[in-house]
Amino acid sequence: MNIKVINGPNLNLLGKRNINIYGKETLNEVKEWLQSKTGDELIIEWFQSNYEGKIIDEIHNSLNCKGIIINPGAFTHYSYAIRDAIESVEIPTVEVHLSDIKNREDFRKKSVIKDVCIGQIFGLGKTGYLNAAKMLIDYKS
Ligand code: DQA
Repeated sequence: MNIKVINGPNLNLLGKRNINIYGKETLNEVKEWLQSKTGDELIIEWFQSNYEGKIIDEIHNSLNCKGIIINPGAFTHYSYAIRDAIESVEIPTVEVHLSDIKNREDFRKKSVIKDVCIGQIFGLGKTGYLNAAKMLIDYKS
């Protein structure tokens, strides 16, 4: 089973950025940890971009995947274009956030992509990606 993991803006700075919120691990370390936890069962394709259009293109390019895990970063809170891309491809998608978006600034509480995803996970750090992968494995469309 192939899964695409898409990470949005500023997540390339993981390990350096707000470490008290996002932790000390880099995105690459999270990627390797996830692959080590899921083993050969899953082929995980990993993508990160700081650009909305590139994220949309990557969603369109995921038709070979059984599922998408997406952490859209701040785009979560206002990108209707990413929302529409997820809806258009009809690939089961799980929204993941490292931090607890419900207990931070007000603007982070709202997700415009939540309603086109099969689940939303937040506040669990990297474990959120693993739980999202399990959710996709178990998902029956
Ligand atoms: C984030 C939460 C967003 O509000 C923020 O803009 C991010 C990261 C998270 O993983 O907790 O860039 O998506």
